[in-house]
Amino acid sequence: MVIDWYWKIVNLPQVPNEITDMIYKFDPSKIQYRVPPKTEETDTFYIDGKVYKDAIYSRYHSDQPVYEWYFKNVIRYVKDKQTQVAPGVQILSDGTAFHFHTDGKARPYVLNYMLDLGGDNVETVFGQEPVFPITREPFLNKFHCEEYNILDRTVLPNNTWVILNSKVLHGVINMERPRICLSMGITNEEMVLLTSL
Ligand SMILES: [Fe+2]
Repeated sequence: MVIDWYWKIVNLPQVPNEITDMIYKFDPSKIQYRVPPKTEETDTFYIDGKVYKDAIYSRYHSDQPVYEWYFKNVIRYVKDKQTQVAPGVQILSDGTAFHFHTDGKARPYVLNYMLDLGGDNVETVFGQEPVFPITREPFLNKFHCEEYNILDRTVLPNNTWVILNSKVLHGVINMERPRICLSMGITNEEMVLLTSL
């Protein structure tokens, strides 16, 4: 299967400062999901001839005003999401990279809004495991990726809505500080809708 894009900019409005301020003042007790503790096998990510410390992934529900803004400006375009819970704020921290992975079943594509890229040269990298197809099954996690074929690498734009093709193994490298974004899994139909705005 040929993939003609790995990520795309979406024409949705920028998140206003009063909303981003609220996101930055997040309450750590609201964290709803955090990756399990790292093991020796999973605390290091090898790629591209370099070794990185793998970051911790945390996710929490946004506050009501954030959700209301999100609903009014983003979710209304995504017709299947009318009754879903609040979209998440996602934080990668305590590391210099996040390992290659595919997202969960409900996230063949993700709609992200980067609030802090986590450094000046933080690249989102898409890769292919040797012998395997480019598009993979959900929930994969890969740590030793020295032999992978790098398909695309880019510094994503800040304060911009992007869709990532999260069925392709992807990760993040060169982090210098926590990387923060709004994130929502979307279906194939929703991806088509949003990329045609
Ligand atoms: Fe992902």
